[in-house]
Amino acid sequence: MSERVKLAAHTAAKYDQGHLDRFLKPYHKAESDFLARDILSLDMGNINKTYNSIIKAGKSEDADFLLEPPEVMVKYEVSEAELRELSDTGSKFIAEGRFAAVTMAGGQGTRLGHDGPKGTFVLPLKEPRSLFQIQCEGLKRVGDMAGNQIPWFIMTSRGNHEATVDFFRENSYFGYDKNLVRFFSQNEVPVVDLNGKLLVRDNCIVRAPDGNGGIFAALASSGNLEIMERSGVEKVFVCGIDNALIRMADPVFLGYAIRNGKQLTSKSVLKRSFDEKAGVFVRRNGKPYYIEYTEIPEDKAAATDRNGNLLFGDIGIVAYVYDTALLKNLADKPLPYHSAIKKIPFCMPDGTLIEPDKPNAVKFESFIFDSFDYVDDIAVMRADRSEEFAPIKNRTGEDSPEVLAGRSLL
Ligand code: UD1
Repeated sequence: MSERVKLAAHTAAKYDQGHLDRFLKPYHKAESDFLARDILSLDMGNINKTYNSIIKAGKSEDADFLLEPPEVMVKYEVSEAELRELSDTGSKFIAEGRFAAVTMAGGQGTRLGHDGPKGTFVLPLKEPRSLFQIQCEGLKRVGDMAGNQIPWFIMTSRGNHEATVDFFRENSYFGYDKNLVRFFSQNEVPVVDLNGKLLVRDNCIVRAPDGNGGIFAALASSGNLEIMERSGVEKVFVCGIDNALIRMADPVFLGYAIRNGKQLTSKSVLKRSFDEKAGVFVRRNGKPYYIEYTEIPEDKAAATDRNGNLLFGDIGIVAYVYDTALLKNLADKPLPYHSAIKKIPFCMPDGTLIEPDKPNAVKFESFIFDSFDYVDDIAVMRADRSEEFAPIKNRTGEDSPEVLAGRSLL
């Protein structure tokens, strides 16, 4: 047994991961060494701490927080003249090369029954298009209008990086200037079983993407933040990949972000009903906060103003404008981990692959909206749901591709 394998086994045992010893022994020397290297690259103390704080401790009791609605600018209620003014402000900023876009596309299309990156999923529109193509065309339109194309950074995960890059190459970047498109991968964090034990597969510790809150560290470590700064980018549109009606780099939204002067502006749409499973923007003890539907007390979720409108009805649609300076500030700030219990395949010590038929493992993810904690205030712009929000999450029914079948997006 090599010194490295011995050290890995010793370290694993020290951190209550002694079961890994059985994975180190049966392998050929080279394979044991490979796994040992992987084990030694982990911060085991931190993994145990995260697991213990989230899973063992359970959910903390609801503290008596003061929840208030956030201040919201309703995009569809402002006058034509104001919309034009905001749009002109945004377009001018784009023309001056001070704006970039980032798409967080670390997810797979598994839930849609699609074997590939979610962005490559083709929607059954009148003219079928993938989610990536929709974003690309949207971005191009805004750039054409402003007379300056927008640099586009696409966050992938290790598992879908190659397939994403290939998809763009095969489709000639959908006509976008390929010199303006840069791909970077988010980090991964180890997955543990329900007892906090690390899983092994193909001679490696099983890992999963670190959640969309990983964007800040990944932008910095990939060098893309520096590229933005050096090229004079001051504000960045950040979005997810799921929303088929996304207004990429919306100049009105940007204009509003410039006008309100805050370092972070978010877009919302109204909840369908108080019990829709979606988080909402609030002020909690006077600070901006995004409260998940699992956390908000039911009486608060259902509370209405005197016109019968939900007090806490603005759900996030994963569309933000961040100041580049704030992105930089967030790069080394810890965000809390949230956990999700999932079905994750793993190997037995003899190499047999197990495909669990029920949830067997805990994934840790950080969420982008936890970055609100690092700013004094954020601005929220509410958009018309029917025009700007159609998340593609399910295979059929609500929030599925069926909703858009045969439709024209333009
Ligand atoms: C997300 C929002 C939720 C909002 C809902 C609206 C987060 C954490 N949650 O829920 O508040 O109400 O959209 O549709 O933002 N992603 C990565 N890497 C990851 C994980 C996610 O790039 O490791 C991307 C996904 O590709 C997706 C976006 O982040 O585009 C949000 O994904 P997900 O974490 O699945 O959140 P949702 O359940 O869609």
